[in-house]
Amino acid sequence: MHVHHAEMMISAVSPKQYPAPDVPEVALAGRSNVGKSSFINRMIDRKGLARTSSQPGKTQTLNFYDINQEFRFVDVPGYGYARVSKSQRVQFEQMVRQYVLQRENLELLFLLMDFRHEPTALDKQMKDLAEEADIPYAIILTKVDKVKRNQWNRHFQLYEKALDLPTVDALFPFSSVTGEGKEDIWEVIEAYVFD
Ligand code: GTP
Ligand code: MG
Repeated sequence: MHVHHAEMMISAVSPKQYPAPDVPEVALAGRSNVGKSSFINRMIDRKGLARTSSQPGKTQTLNFYDINQEFRFVDVPGYGYARVSKSQRVQFEQMVRQYVLQRENLELLFLLMDFRHEPTALDKQMKDLAEEADIPYAIILTKVDKVKRNQWNRHFQLYEKALDLPTVDALFPFSSVTGEGKEDIWEVIEAYVFD
């Protein structure tokens, strides 16, 4: 897909700030620091569009990015950032749940998980939320550039088992450094957003 227009529309914390639900949305959810903002930038090849940071907890609002006025990426704040207060964490979680459970034009959820490590309790919680909301989802395994090729199968199997997936088909390896996986993920977006 050729991205000729990409623009940050709004940072929202509550539904009344969301843009009108007039185009499909693809949301990126996952632990803080997993690479959600980097994912957006790499997918559309705009380096600085979504703010990234080596310090977790950078994105603290729902950020809506217009793509070609055809669909939106929605960057969802990182779950499980230890250094925010408990009440703030509860607030984040509520914001995410409210968006995922109630947004009528949410067509696809990408659950980003760090390929280097086993899925965490929070990763599993995100998958449960996707199932609760009955939204199609795919799991994006980030930072695959950090794992040696001969270890990939072992890591895939770890995910397949821990997340109780029927096959590895729902797992998409991705690297925002090398661009690995980008084309396959665009195919998924096109299948769900433009059907
Ligand atoms: P929050 O906004 O805090 O929730 O984080 P995020 O999920 O948006 O993560 P972000 O994209 O800001 O990336 C976090 C850190 O991981 C940054 O230092 C990135 O450069 C790095 N990073 C992201 N994706 C990759 C990747 O595919 N490979 C490597 N090696 N590093 C990555
Ligand atoms: Mg971010």
